[in-house]
Amino acid sequence: MLDDLHSVLVTQPVLQKRVEELGREISEKYRDTGELTVVAIINGAIVFAADLIRHIDLPLRLDCLRVSSYRDDTKPVSSPEIIDKLRLDLKDRHVLLIDDIMDTGRTSEQVLEMLRQMGPASLRLCVLLEKRGRREVDLEPDFVGFSIPDDFVVGYGLDFAEHYRNLPCIGVLRPEAQNPPEWR
Ligand code: IMP
Ligand code: MG
Repeated sequence: MLDDLHSVLVTQPVLQKRVEELGREISEKYRDTGELTVVAIINGAIVFAADLIRHIDLPLRLDCLRVSSYRDDTKPVSSPEIIDKLRLDLKDRHVLLIDDIMDTGRTSEQVLEMLRQMGPASLRLCVLLEKRGRREVDLEPDFVGFSIPDDFVVGYGLDFAEHYRNLPCIGVLRPEAQNPPEWR
């Protein structure tokens, strides 16, 4: 799998250290607000969220939301589709949305709007990665792991056509690996 990477952008130890720091930042931010409700966007945020919540030192509930914005391709579709609904009630709760990467920002914007309609006491966004140059909406995440250049990346939960999510680091996928003969 590592052979399919053009380069490694964030190594496993660097990821781990930053996730721990983010956990501390988030814990401090919510220290006096009581229980936190974390909403993770799956599948992409599954690895990040699993690690991050173990560094949040507060009472916390977790729910997941399934969204599709890249259909087995490296180009986004214009409007992300929410495929699975939340189980938890967010009314008057302090809600933290977790996603793997903010690219155009359209997915986060649409999901935040949906969550806002559920009447949370507060609503914030945490993303592991952001591609700053690609933003198409006026939205800043409250917590960011790393700002990265505009390359298609995989690993640590991020996929190409559901592959590479289990890579322990984050790397730039070789163009040749984006449509290998065995997948055609
Ligand atoms: P946005 O709506 O353009 O911000 O896209 C956000 C979603 O697209 C993320 O949650 C990812 O699932 C996916 N995505 C964007 N960039 C990448 C990438 O470089 N690698 C893998 N998935 C990506
Ligand atoms: Mg994805």
